[in-house]
Formats: sequence, C-alpha cells, structure tokens
Amino acid sequence: MKLKIPEAIRWSGDDLFLLDQTRLPLEVVEEKQETIQQVWDSIKQLKVRGAPAIGISAAYGLLIGIRDSLDQPFDVFIKRVEEQAAYLDGARPTAVNLHWAMTRMVNVSRRSGITATKELYALLEKEAKAIDSEDKFLCQKLGEIGGALIKPGMGVLTHCNAGAIATSGLGTALAAMYVAAEKGVPFKVFADETRPLLQGARLTSWELQQAGIDVTLITDNMAGHLMSKGLIDMVIVGTDRVAANGDVANKIGTMSVAILANYFNIPFYVSCPSSTIDFKTASGDDIEIEERNGEEVTSFGNKRTAPEGIQTRNPAFDVTPNRLVTGLITEKGIVTAPYKENLIKMFPNHQSV
Ligand code: MRU
Repeated sequence: MKLKIPEAIRWSGDDLFLLDQTRLPLEVVEEKQETIQQVWDSIKQLKVRGAPAIGISAAYGLLIGIRDSLDQPFDVFIKRVEEQAAYLDGARPTAVNLHWAMTRMVNVSRRSGITATKELYALLEKEAKAIDSEDKFLCQKLGEIGGALIKPGMGVLTHCNAGAIATSGLGTALAAMYVAAEKGVPFKVFADETRPLLQGARLTSWELQQAGIDVTLITDNMAGHLMSKGLIDMVIVGTDRVAANGDVANKIGTMSVAILANYFNIPFYVSCPSSTIDFKTASGDDIEIEERNGEEVTSFGNKRTAPEGIQTRNPAFDVTPNRLVTGLITEKGIVTAPYKENLIKMFPNHQSV
C-alpha cells in the first residue's frame, strides 16, 4: 500500500519553507522563512516542532542568517556563523537535535580549512542538506526495525507527534506504523490527545488518517482505562533526548504513559535516531526541561478555560526513567537494558556534542 506522507520542511536551494504546524489540521499552509528571527520564532512557537525537524530547520535557517554577510571579511563571516548558530540553538532547550545540528554546522566551518566566504557558505549548505537527508534515512531504518514489532491485530498507543512532520522522513515512532501499514499488517493506533498543545489530536491523528491508517483519538486520561480493557498491546513514542543511561525526555505525559504500561505489563518502546542520543548528559536529571507560557494551560483552542490570575506550571517535557523502557528502537537495532553499557556498545563512534 502506498501511503500519503506529509512534508514539514522544504529547502528550494535558496529559500526555506516550513509547514505551519500550529494551523493543522484546519489549514495546510507552508510559510516562507525570510529571516533568521522568523526561523527562531517558528521553532519557539512550534510552527516547526519535533526533535529532528527543529535541528534540520535550524541548519537551513542558519544559511538564511549568514547570507547577508557573504561580502564581509572571512574572520567576520565565520564569527557570524557561530553567533547565529548560538542564537538558533537558544530557541528551545530540551531536544538535543537542535544543539547537535548547530554544533555540527559550527564544527564544519571551523574544521574546513576554507578561507573564502562563498565557499564556506556552499559547504554549510551541503552540510544542512546532509543533516536533512540523513534524517530521512534514519527514519526509514527506525520504521523497518520498529515496524517489525507491530503484529496483526495489535493496538498501539502513541503520545504527542513523532511523525513525518516531526522529521524530514517517515517520523520516528510513526515510522514503525507507516512501514507496518505499507506491508499490509492490520493494526490499530490509539493517539493520545497530548495536552496542552494537542500534538496528538491536531497532528498525529491528522497524519495517520491521511495515510489511511486505522487511528482512534483519545484524551490523555483515557490511556489507563484502555490498557485495563486489553486494547493496548504496545506503546511506541518518540524522544527529544536520550541520556547516556537511557533515561528518555519526551513530551509531557510520556512518563505517565510509561508508568501505566509498566503496571499493565505492556511493552513501552522509544523510537530514537542516534541524533537524539546525548552521551554528554549522564542521566535524565541533567536534561533541561522547557517551561512554557502558562497561557497554554489556562486556555484551550484560544478559549480561556481557567480563572484569571490562576497559578500554572507548564513543563513541556518529562523524563521517563530507563527502567520503564522496554527498548530503544535505533537505526542500528533495538537497545535494551543495561542502557549505559549497551548504548555505547551500539554507538561506539557517536559524535557527542
Ligand atoms: O513540543 P514538541 O511538539 O516539539 O514535542 C515533540 C515531542 O515530544 C516528540 O515526541 C519528539 O520530539 C520526537 S519527534 C520525532
């Protein structure tokens, strides 16, 4: 079966176009990114979101931020590359892919040996395209490896959106579903709504419905009930950062799903390209969790749902302890506990950032 897969990021050779994910599923609109500030805002406001997608967008966004300096002396230009990369890197803290992509771009310029601005720009464009196409490849691999876990008749729960629009390919968690569906395996997906920003309702259910995959939307507080009724056989989620010990940062609510899955003896898998593994972060305690504006909690679809002046907390991510993770689906295979040892065995040459 050939599936309809959406595309979130498009580089025309000169211009960057991002699918505005804040308008989905009501409007499918691509927005041209005119300035680096606009790219920063698009990342901050979640017009583009999902760990791999923000890294790729920032890599192209950096090109937009340095091209007005091509006529500057080379030392000024290279300083500009570093400043603009640091600027984009600051847009969101939790997903390591953003930092990873910016470090990779800066390292390429430092190590190139090039001394002409236009030549360095061409090299950086090549690197951004490489980050983009490598991600496509990683997604395909994650899909093949994760897809093999999905057996006929299964109910698979996912949280947030780790789909095609969170990457440049098939997604990470949803890649498994796309590949299984392409092979004709019959299964059901349950998508958690994912409050407060509804990535499950707005994005995952949209993506999977478009692809013709059997998807059922539930609110976040329904997952335990469905598990207790035997409707969920497996959970697959994505991740924003996996620490060296296998602790997993992902969208807020993921840890609650993992605890439920553990209680009901349901396998809990995390689909994780190597670009999301951070060997420099020892454990989940060391991962910075983005805290977002409380208005996201006091409103629903732009309508106020809480009293004026109410106190809020709005952590955008949580950390699932490694002991609740059945396996990390990586492009090289499934990594299981003990994670610290097995991750390094699987990725001995990982370029930590
Ligand atoms: O705040 P978001 O929408 O960027 O959060 C996204 C997630 O938590 C995803 O699960 C994660 O980035 C993996 S995307 C392949």
